[in-house]
Amino acid sequence: MHGVDPSQFRQLLGRFATGVTVVTTRDRAGKPIGMTASSVASVSLDPPLVLVSVARDNDMHPALKAADRFVLNVLAADQEAISRRFAEEHPNRFDGLGYRETLLGLPVLEGVLASIECEKHGEAPGGDHTVFFGLVTGGTVSDGGPLLYYRGGYAGLGGGGGGGRGGGGGGSR
Ligand SMILES: Cc1cc2nc3c(=O)[nH]c(=O)nc-3n(C[C@H](O)[C@H](O)[C@H](O)COP(=O)(O)O)c2cc1C
Repeated sequence: MHGVDPSQFRQLLGRFATGVTVVTTRDRAGKPIGMTASSVASVSLDPPLVLVSVARDNDMHPALKAADRFVLNVLAADQEAISRRFAEEHPNRFDGLGYRETLLGLPVLEGVLASIECEKHGEAPGGDHTVFFGLVTGGTVSDGGPLLYYRGGYAGLGGGGGGGRGGGGGGSR
């Protein structure tokens, strides 16, 4: 098997702009848990399926393995700090953040563009990640611009593609 090296992989996939979500669920102890994820996709309309791919060594991995349900919180343009917080080490990522609970008790972050409520619908191995499929069972939407991730940095709609404002993008990468 001959795959490109990680740097070329990042360079190639970095040209694919994505939105940013925070996947939320509850861990085995019932504590809210969340992780920033951009490897999210719509999979099927009938049934309505989505996917999120989670690194096997992330704390979210065992939580999603055990969970029956999860929520994809689609971040708005002004939620870059939330994206950063849920991607970094933090004693309690939910500290000081507003969130509500779905009828089934899952955390939904305040101010998101959409909350996509899912029932876990299976999983598949994907290299050093596991792809979790979700059957979309409900959710909410609001208006506003999306937070985007492009070439290793954060961006909004309409940027010229210079690598984002969040750092890490730029140059010839
Ligand atoms: C914009 C962005 C997108 C990310 N997308 C994913 C993703 O799709 N899957 C993943 O496993 N990690 C992704 N990460 C990395 C995780 O958020 C990060 O490793 C986090 O610290 C893992 O937290 P945990 O170990 O508490 O689960 C992303 C990070 C950022 C900043």
